[in-house]
Amino acid sequence: MSLKNYKTALVTGASSGIGAATVKALTERGLEVVAVARRIDRLEALANSTGCKVLSMDLRKHQQIYDTLSTIDADILVNNAGTGRGFTGFLDATAEDIETTMGTNVQAAVHVLRAVLPGMVERKSGHIVNLGSVAGLYPINSAIYGGSKGAMHLISQNLRIELLGKGIRVTEVCPGRVDTEFFDAATDDQALAERVKNTGVEVLQSEDVSAAIMFALDAPARTNISTIELTPTNQVFGGGAFANT
Ligand SMILES: NC(=O)c1ccc[n+]([C@@H]2O[C@H](COP(=O)([O-])OP(=O)(O)OC[C@H]3O[C@@H](n4cnc5c(N)ncnc54)[C@H](OP(=O)(O)O)[C@@H]3O)[C@@H](O)[C@H]2O)c1
Repeated sequence: MSLKNYKTALVTGASSGIGAATVKALTERGLEVVAVARRIDRLEALANSTGCKVLSMDLRKHQQIYDTLSTIDADILVNNAGTGRGFTGFLDATAEDIETTMGTNVQAAVHVLRAVLPGMVERKSGHIVNLGSVAGLYPINSAIYGGSKGAMHLISQNLRIELLGKGIRVTEVCPGRVDTEFFDAATDDQALAERVKNTGVEVLQSEDVSAAIMFALDAPARTNISTIELTPTNQVFGGGAFANT
């Protein structure tokens, strides 16, 4: 079931960044795309430029997910909506930051999967693309965000096992730093957002990530691309740290 066999895609977090780039790539390949996010002005602009359909909704309102998304016969789900509230550190995070990041990156993403998968199982066909992060694969100094993406990593791997034999492929895409609005949305301190964004190296563009997503979707039916990790050339993970207290 490569991309040419799929007709309809559902993309969450489509109003900016990786989600918007993925909507563009999918519509260019002739798919009908339903783009989901809260900012209706952004979604309408995307609809004008790509022809996608739009659904403005807050994915943290779980009942709306079941009422709306379960009615769409999606061949592809790009489960991409996410946020990094509380990224500056566990001890700085407010209760609201924790609720927002875990509630969006884990709970909403799982509810979207739960709403969409039964239709795919019934049709014996479908492709899930979950947006993870290198922060979910390796330790970084962001327990909340890293933990949320670590959960997505194991959810993706375990779904592969639970869905074995049902004709559904599961791909997790784990980017390093991407030039999007992620940090603008992750803090109210725009000077901080600018400092964090200013890495001094060339980071990934959203189109680099959507190209990886399209690669996984385009693989022949016999192939499940399970995990894709992509980082800027000048970004690595790992290394040691010591504290002599
Ligand atoms: N940028 C990076 O460096 C990076 C690296 C690794 C992984 N990622 C992951 O990639 C995914 C996309 O992020 P991005 O970098 O493209 O950031 P972005 O430009 O900030 O996009 C995030 C998207 O999620 C949507 N969203 C957030 N909360 C939502 C909610 N409650 N209901 C509905 N939609 C919601 C936003 O739309 P509205 O605000 O309009 O609702 C927006 O479209 C995320 O899962 C992120 O964790 C990003």
